[in-house]
Amino acid sequence: MQYQILQIAIENGIAVVTISREKALNALNRQTMDELRHFFSETASSIEGLKGVVLTGAGEKAFVAGADITEFQGLSPEQGQALAQRGQDLFFLIEKFSKPVVAAVNGFALGGGCELAMSCHLRIAGEKARFGQPEVNLGLIPGYGGTQRLIQYIGKTKATELLMTADMLGAEEALRLGLVNSVVPAGEEVGKAVELIEKIATKAPVAISKIIETVNAYFAEEVDGFAYEVAAFGQCCATEDFKEGAAAFVEKRKAAFTGK
Ligand code: CAA
Repeated sequence: MQYQILQIAIENGIAVVTISREKALNALNRQTMDELRHFFSETASSIEGLKGVVLTGAGEKAFVAGADITEFQGLSPEQGQALAQRGQDLFFLIEKFSKPVVAAVNGFALGGGCELAMSCHLRIAGEKARFGQPEVNLGLIPGYGGTQRLIQYIGKTKATELLMTADMLGAEEALRLGLVNSVVPAGEEVGKAVELIEKIATKAPVAISKIIETVNAYFAEEVDGFAYEVAAFGQCCATEDFKEGAAAFVEKRKAAFTGK
Protein backbone atom coordinates (compact mmCIF):
# COMPACT_ATOMS: atom_id res chain seq x y z
CA MET A 1 0.00 0.00 0.00
CA GLN A 2 1.20 3.47 -0.88
CA TYR A 3 0.70 5.50 2.29
CA GLN A 4 -0.65 8.98 1.65
CA ILE A 5 -1.27 10.08 5.22
CA LEU A 6 0.95 8.01 7.45
CA GLN A 7 4.59 9.02 7.54
CA ILE A 8 6.65 6.09 8.72
CA ALA A 9 10.23 6.41 9.93
CA ILE A 10 12.00 3.28 11.09
CA GLU A 11 15.15 3.73 13.10
CA ASN A 12 16.94 1.19 15.24
CA GLY A 13 13.93 -1.18 15.13
CA ILE A 14 11.41 1.43 16.24
CA ALA A 15 8.72 2.62 13.82
CA VAL A 16 7.57 6.19 14.40
CA VAL A 17 4.24 6.60 12.63
CA THR A 18 3.02 10.16 12.17
CA ILE A 19 -0.58 10.80 11.18
CA SER A 20 -0.18 13.71 8.79
CA ARG A 21 -3.35 15.65 8.07
CA GLU A 22 -2.26 18.74 9.91
CA LYS A 23 -4.81 21.05 8.26
CA ALA A 24 -7.64 18.88 9.64
CA LEU A 25 -5.85 18.44 12.97
CA ASN A 26 -5.01 14.88 11.89
CA ALA A 27 -8.67 13.83 12.02
CA LEU A 28 -9.23 10.16 11.24
CA ASN A 29 -10.86 9.99 7.83
CA ARG A 30 -11.50 6.69 6.08
CA GLN A 31 -8.14 6.80 4.27
CA THR A 32 -6.27 7.28 7.56
CA MET A 33 -8.16 4.41 9.18
CA ASP A 34 -7.41 2.17 6.16
CA GLU A 35 -3.72 3.07 6.31
CA LEU A 36 -3.54 2.41 10.06
CA ARG A 37 -5.25 -0.95 9.52
CA HIS A 38 -2.78 -1.83 6.77
CA PHE A 39 0.18 -0.70 8.85
CA PHE A 40 -0.71 -2.85 11.87
CA SER A 41 -1.92 -5.89 9.95
CA GLU A 42 0.73 -5.96 7.20
CA THR A 43 3.63 -3.54 7.39
CA ALA A 44 4.48 -3.56 11.10
CA SER A 45 4.49 -7.30 11.45
CA SER A 46 6.87 -7.59 8.48
CA ILE A 47 9.49 -5.16 9.85
CA GLU A 48 12.55 -7.21 10.72
CA GLY A 49 13.63 -6.78 14.35
CA LEU A 50 10.76 -4.46 15.22
CA LYS A 51 10.96 -3.36 18.87
CA GLY A 52 7.80 -1.27 18.97
CA VAL A 53 5.71 1.46 17.40
CA VAL A 54 5.27 5.10 18.33
CA LEU A 55 2.06 6.79 17.11
CA THR A 56 1.94 10.57 16.93
CA GLY A 57 0.30 13.44 15.07
CA ALA A 58 1.85 15.95 12.68
CA GLY A 59 2.34 19.53 13.85
CA GLU A 60 2.29 21.06 17.28
CA LYS A 61 -1.45 21.39 17.76
CA ALA A 62 -3.00 17.95 17.57
CA PHE A 63 -2.35 14.29 18.09
CA VAL A 64 -5.72 13.49 16.48
CA ALA A 65 -8.80 15.74 16.87
CA GLY A 66 -11.22 12.85 16.38
CA ALA A 67 -12.92 10.99 13.62
CA ASP A 68 -13.33 13.19 10.55
CA ILE A 69 -16.68 14.86 11.19
CA THR A 70 -17.09 15.84 7.54
CA GLU A 71 -17.52 12.14 6.71
CA PHE A 72 -20.27 11.73 9.31
CA GLN A 73 -22.98 13.85 7.76
CA GLY A 74 -25.91 11.84 6.47
CA LEU A 75 -24.81 8.53 8.01
CA SER A 76 -27.71 6.09 8.31
CA PRO A 77 -27.98 3.98 11.49
CA GLU A 78 -26.61 0.98 9.58
CA GLN A 79 -23.72 2.97 8.14
CA GLY A 80 -22.97 4.45 11.57
CA GLN A 81 -22.92 1.03 13.15
CA ALA A 82 -20.62 -0.33 10.44
CA LEU A 83 -18.28 2.66 10.83
CA ALA A 84 -18.08 2.20 14.60
CA GLN A 85 -17.48 -1.54 14.20
CA ARG A 86 -14.64 -0.97 11.72
CA GLY A 87 -13.08 1.56 14.09
CA GLN A 88 -13.36 -0.77 17.07
CA ASP A 89 -11.85 -3.64 15.06
CA LEU A 90 -8.87 -1.46 14.15
CA PHE A 91 -8.34 -0.29 17.71
CA PHE A 92 -8.48 -3.89 18.99
CA LEU A 93 -5.85 -4.74 16.38
CA ILE A 94 -3.59 -2.06 17.90
CA GLU A 95 -4.37 -3.11 21.47
CA LYS A 96 -3.52 -6.72 20.63
CA PHE A 97 -0.37 -5.91 18.66
CA SER A 98 2.41 -8.11 20.01
CA LYS A 99 5.02 -5.34 20.34
CA PRO A 100 4.61 -2.23 22.50
CA VAL A 101 2.65 0.57 20.87
CA VAL A 102 3.17 3.96 22.52
CA ALA A 103 1.08 7.06 21.80
CA ALA A 104 3.13 10.26 21.81
CA VAL A 105 0.33 12.74 22.41
CA ASN A 106 1.50 16.13 21.23
CA GLY A 107 -1.76 18.09 21.37
CA PHE A 108 -5.51 17.54 21.10
CA ALA A 109 -6.52 13.89 21.53
CA LEU A 110 -10.27 14.18 21.15
CA GLY A 111 -13.01 11.71 20.27
CA GLY A 112 -11.47 9.06 18.02
CA GLY A 113 -8.06 10.58 18.85
CA CYS A 114 -8.48 9.94 22.56
CA GLU A 115 -9.79 6.48 21.67
CA LEU A 116 -6.75 5.84 19.47
CA ALA A 117 -4.39 6.89 22.27
CA MET A 118 -6.28 4.63 24.70
CA SER A 119 -5.92 1.65 22.37
CA CYS A 120 -2.13 2.01 22.57
CA HIS A 121 -0.36 0.13 25.37
CA LEU A 122 1.26 3.26 26.84
CA ARG A 123 0.76 7.03 26.50
CA ILE A 124 3.30 9.84 26.78
CA ALA A 125 1.68 13.29 26.92
CA GLY A 126 3.32 16.54 26.00
CA GLU A 127 2.46 19.33 28.42
CA LYS A 128 0.07 20.84 25.81
CA ALA A 129 -1.85 17.59 25.29
CA ARG A 130 -5.60 17.71 25.88
CA PHE A 131 -7.84 14.67 26.14
CA GLY A 132 -11.59 14.45 25.77
CA GLN A 133 -14.62 12.69 24.32
CA PRO A 134 -16.72 15.56 22.90
CA GLU A 135 -19.10 13.40 20.86
CA VAL A 136 -22.20 14.53 22.79
CA ASN A 137 -21.62 17.98 21.27
CA LEU A 138 -22.40 16.33 17.92
CA GLY A 139 -25.39 14.33 19.08
CA LEU A 140 -23.24 11.21 19.18
CA ILE A 141 -21.39 9.02 21.64
CA PRO A 142 -17.87 7.64 21.22
CA GLY A 143 -17.89 4.75 18.75
CA TYR A 144 -14.32 3.50 18.71
CA GLY A 145 -14.29 2.05 22.24
CA GLY A 146 -14.16 5.32 24.19
CA THR A 147 -17.03 4.60 26.57
CA GLN A 148 -15.34 1.37 27.63
CA ARG A 149 -11.63 2.20 27.69
CA LEU A 150 -12.03 5.57 29.42
CA ILE A 151 -13.69 3.73 32.33
CA GLN A 152 -10.90 1.14 32.29
CA TYR A 153 -8.27 3.83 32.68
CA ILE A 154 -9.81 6.45 34.96
CA GLY A 155 -12.82 4.77 36.59
CA LYS A 156 -16.56 5.13 36.18
CA THR A 157 -17.11 8.34 38.16
CA LYS A 158 -14.77 10.66 36.27
CA ALA A 159 -15.25 8.87 32.93
CA THR A 160 -19.03 9.33 33.06
CA GLU A 161 -18.55 13.02 33.85
CA LEU A 162 -16.17 13.53 30.92
CA LEU A 163 -18.39 11.56 28.53
CA MET A 164 -21.45 13.59 29.55
CA THR A 165 -19.87 17.07 29.74
CA ALA A 166 -17.36 16.78 26.85
CA ASP A 167 -14.85 18.53 29.15
CA MET A 168 -11.20 18.20 28.26
CA LEU A 169 -8.40 17.01 30.54
CA GLY A 170 -5.03 18.71 30.51
CA ALA A 171 -1.85 16.62 30.56
CA GLU A 172 -1.21 16.89 34.31
CA GLU A 173 -4.77 15.92 35.20
CA ALA A 174 -4.60 13.03 32.73
CA LEU A 175 -1.46 11.89 34.56
CA ARG A 176 -3.11 12.26 37.97
CA LEU A 177 -6.12 10.20 36.82
CA GLY A 178 -3.96 7.44 35.30
CA LEU A 179 -4.82 8.10 31.67
CA VAL A 180 -1.19 8.72 30.68
CA ASN A 181 2.12 7.27 31.82
CA SER A 182 4.11 10.50 31.95
CA VAL A 183 4.12 14.14 30.93
CA VAL A 184 7.08 15.69 29.15
CA PRO A 185 7.86 19.17 27.80
CA ALA A 186 6.26 19.91 24.43
CA GLY A 187 8.32 18.48 21.59
CA GLU A 188 9.82 15.67 23.67
CA GLU A 189 6.89 13.23 23.41
CA VAL A 190 8.31 11.07 20.60
CA GLY A 191 11.80 10.99 22.15
CA LYS A 192 10.38 9.82 25.47
CA ALA A 193 8.23 7.19 23.75
CA VAL A 194 11.28 5.88 21.86
CA GLU A 195 13.24 5.78 25.12
CA LEU A 196 10.48 3.73 26.73
CA ILE A 197 10.42 1.23 23.86
CA GLU A 198 14.23 0.95 23.99
CA LYS A 199 13.98 0.09 27.68
CA ILE A 200 11.28 -2.54 27.07
CA ALA A 201 13.37 -3.97 24.21
CA THR A 202 16.07 -4.98 26.71
CA LYS A 203 13.57 -7.47 28.20
CA ALA A 204 12.56 -10.89 26.83
CA PRO A 205 10.34 -10.27 23.75
CA VAL A 206 8.05 -13.27 24.23
CA ALA A 207 7.49 -12.27 27.85
CA ILE A 208 6.57 -8.74 26.71
CA SER A 209 4.04 -10.13 24.21
CA LYS A 210 2.58 -12.28 27.00
CA ILE A 211 2.28 -9.19 29.21
CA ILE A 212 0.25 -7.53 26.44
CA GLU A 213 -1.98 -10.61 26.12
CA THR A 214 -2.54 -11.08 29.85
CA VAL A 215 -3.29 -7.40 30.48
CA ASN A 216 -5.83 -7.55 27.65
CA ALA A 217 -7.24 -10.77 29.15
CA TYR A 218 -8.18 -8.85 32.31
CA PHE A 219 -10.65 -6.78 30.29
CA ALA A 220 -11.96 -9.52 27.98
CA GLU A 221 -15.32 -10.64 29.33
CA GLU A 222 -15.12 -14.14 27.91
CA VAL A 223 -11.61 -14.83 29.22
CA ASP A 224 -10.54 -15.85 32.72
CA GLY A 225 -7.46 -13.63 33.12
CA PHE A 226 -6.00 -15.74 35.94
CA ALA A 227 -6.29 -18.92 33.87
CA TYR A 228 -4.83 -17.06 30.89
CA GLU A 229 -1.88 -16.01 33.06
CA VAL A 230 -1.23 -19.59 34.17
CA ALA A 231 -1.14 -20.77 30.54
CA ALA A 232 1.05 -17.85 29.43
CA PHE A 233 3.46 -18.45 32.31
CA GLY A 234 3.84 -22.03 31.11
CA GLN A 235 4.43 -20.84 27.54
CA CYS A 236 7.19 -18.52 28.75
CA CYS A 237 8.85 -21.52 30.44
CA ALA A 238 9.17 -23.14 26.99
CA THR A 239 11.27 -20.26 25.63
CA GLU A 240 15.04 -20.09 25.25
CA ASP A 241 14.84 -16.62 26.73
CA PHE A 242 13.55 -18.06 30.01
CA LYS A 243 16.54 -20.43 30.16
CA GLU A 244 18.86 -17.56 29.29
CA GLY A 245 17.27 -15.11 31.75
CA ALA A 246 17.39 -17.53 34.67
CA ALA A 247 20.96 -18.63 33.80
CA ALA A 248 22.14 -15.04 33.48
CA PHE A 249 20.73 -14.25 36.93
CA VAL A 250 22.50 -17.21 38.52
CA GLU A 251 25.75 -16.42 36.68
CA LYS A 252 25.47 -12.73 37.65
CA ARG A 253 25.63 -11.47 34.07
CA LYS A 254 23.35 -9.52 31.75
CA ALA A 255 20.91 -11.72 29.83
CA ALA A 256 21.25 -11.86 26.04
CA PHE A 257 17.70 -12.44 24.84
CA THR A 258 17.02 -13.69 21.32
CA GLY A 259 13.23 -13.61 21.29
CA LYS A 260 13.03 -17.39 20.99
N1 CAA B 1 -12.95 16.35 11.77
C1 CAA B 1 -12.78 17.10 10.67
N2 CAA B 1 -12.11 18.29 10.68
C2 CAA B 1 -11.65 18.72 11.86
C3 CAA B 1 -11.81 17.99 13.06
C4 CAA B 1 -12.51 16.75 12.98
N3 CAA B 1 -12.68 15.97 14.05
N4 CAA B 1 -11.26 18.69 14.07
C5 CAA B 1 -10.76 19.82 13.52
N5 CAA B 1 -10.98 19.83 12.19
C6 CAA B 1 -10.61 20.87 11.24
C7 CAA B 1 -11.48 22.10 11.40
O1 CAA B 1 -12.71 21.95 10.70
C8 CAA B 1 -10.60 23.16 10.79
O2 CAA B 1 -10.67 23.06 9.39
P1 CAA B 1 -10.76 24.41 8.47
O3 CAA B 1 -9.47 25.14 8.73
O4 CAA B 1 -10.87 23.88 7.07
O5 CAA B 1 -11.95 25.17 8.95
C9 CAA B 1 -9.20 22.73 11.20
O6 CAA B 1 -9.30 21.33 11.53
C10 CAA B 1 -8.68 23.47 12.42
O7 CAA B 1 -9.65 23.34 13.45
P2 CAA B 1 -10.28 24.60 14.22
O8 CAA B 1 -10.27 25.81 13.35
O9 CAA B 1 -11.60 24.17 14.78
O10 CAA B 1 -9.20 24.79 15.38
P3 CAA B 1 -9.44 25.39 16.84
O11 CAA B 1 -8.10 25.59 17.44
O12 CAA B 1 -10.39 26.54 16.80
O13 CAA B 1 -10.20 24.21 17.64
C11 CAA B 1 -10.58 21.93 18.32
C12 CAA B 1 -9.55 22.99 17.86
C13 CAA B 1 -11.11 22.28 19.72
C14 CAA B 1 -9.86 20.60 18.36
C15 CAA B 1 -11.76 21.90 17.31
O14 CAA B 1 -11.22 21.76 16.00
C16 CAA B 1 -12.74 20.80 17.53
O15 CAA B 1 -13.57 20.88 18.41
N6 CAA B 1 -12.66 19.74 16.71
C17 CAA B 1 -13.61 18.64 16.75
C18 CAA B 1 -13.32 17.72 17.92
C19 CAA B 1 -14.36 16.62 17.98
O16 CAA B 1 -15.56 16.86 18.13
N7 CAA B 1 -13.90 15.37 17.88
C20 CAA B 1 -14.76 14.21 17.93
C21 CAA B 1 -15.12 13.79 16.55
S1 CAA B 1 -16.37 12.57 16.53
C22 CAA B 1 -15.59 11.11 16.93
O17 CAA B 1 -14.37 11.04 17.04
C23 CAA B 1 -16.53 9.95 17.09
C24 CAA B 1 -15.88 8.65 17.40
O18 CAA B 1 -15.67 8.29 18.56
C25 CAA B 1 -15.65 7.71 16.37
